[in-house]
Amino acid sequence: MTGAHPPFAFARRTAVALSAIAGLAALWGALARLGWAADAWSAREALWHGALAVLGFLGTMIAAERATALGRPWAFGAPIATGLGAIALLASPSPRSAQLLFLSGALVLVAIFAVVYRLQPALHNAVLGIGSLLWVVSIALWFGGFPLYRVAPWWAGMLVATIVGERLELSRLVGLSPRARGSFVAGIAVHVGGLVLSVAWFGWGVRVAGLGLVALAAWLVRHDAARRTIHGPPLPRFMAACLLSGYLWLAAGGAAWAWFGGVIAGPGHDAMLHAVFVGFVMSMVFAHAPVILPAVLGGSVEYRPRFYAHLALLHASLVVRILGDLVGAEEAVRWGGLLGAAAILVFVVSTATARLGKPLARPIPLDGGGRSPRHRGLRSVAPGRADGGRAP
Ligand code: HEM
Repeated sequence: MTGAHPPFAFARRTAVALSAIAGLAALWGALARLGWAADAWSAREALWHGALAVLGFLGTMIAAERATALGRPWAFGAPIATGLGAIALLASPSPRSAQLLFLSGALVLVAIFAVVYRLQPALHNAVLGIGSLLWVVSIALWFGGFPLYRVAPWWAGMLVATIVGERLELSRLVGLSPRARGSFVAGIAVHVGGLVLSVAWFGWGVRVAGLGLVALAAWLVRHDAARRTIHGPPLPRFMAACLLSGYLWLAAGGAAWAWFGGVIAGPGHDAMLHAVFVGFVMSMVFAHAPVILPAVLGGSVEYRPRFYAHLALLHASLVVRILGDLVGAEEAVRWGGLLGAAAILVFVVSTATARLGKPLARPIPLDGGGRSPRHRGLRSVAPGRADGGRAP
């Protein structure tokens, strides 16, 4: 797949392997937190579940995709550093070395976005850059001694900014009216403003950040191309189903943030976090995996109707879990969590076994008919173009 760039191939595969280890450890830790795996050796996975899931698993995949798109050797420092950060978190009793590795990876990601923005100064690249800055701030706060419950909203912000920036980029929303652009910028500003406020006034900051999430969800439902591609061919339709259902969870999560504010543990906390991290973020992962995986690893992912099984299981399990949180039914929370972890594993197996060694004859249209133009100097991450085919 990458005959022209063997070092990139090695870096990509290493990043995916490290991300997978982090993801599995995060899931194991999640189950331990719910009392499904209470062995003594689960303690570190359980303690660092959130960091492993956000920085180790998703952070490494995001950085690998961005490094692949930029196509410069130094950029792979980002996913390798964050992937090693996850290993350090599992291997060492102190999180210090892991935090430094995560921070280094995040700084390289900021550098990637600085280069990308210079090549293509567009709103979506600015938003992606903001996502990488939120990542840096979150790790700095964690390093500085902030407890995880205060860092977690920043992690959500980092993932939300990255995803909405990607949606702007991938959905060819270049023809947005000034009003639509304005409401998008307002949503981001309220969310990030709330995060900044949360450093001094945690409860109020989380509430404001939650209102920003609701605004962004409403914006996505109104303007994302998924509303059109839900009527398209099978794979774009499946992706649109993931996207639209994920936006509903983002709205629900934002409403929970605005309602519960600064709770730091317990059922409300679980619901606030996982409506966003599982309902929204994992739906986005399900949607984009058939595109991102081939971009990073080569080959292609062929649509299979069975993909709806992991999507349905994810949503059903989360409904059980959050209803359990709201009515105080502990068993429902435990079973919902277990089934959610199962949905993620089914997704991995189902998607990996649908991967073909070679690119599809026709690339998968992300927006049902076209992609945003990329500036010269950036590589395409279109499926079947893992060789980094040059954008026009
Ligand atoms: C479906 C599988 C999952 C289960 C069963 C699970 C379980 C848990 C539990 C029980 C907590 C503690 C909640 C509290 O303190 O109130 C937690 C915290 C957290 N989870 Fe998850 N989780 C899952 C998936 C995820 C995913 C996919 C992400 C990220 C994308 C994530 C990110 C976090 C974060 C950031 C925290 C807070 C920080 C921490 O305490 O580690 N979780 N999770």
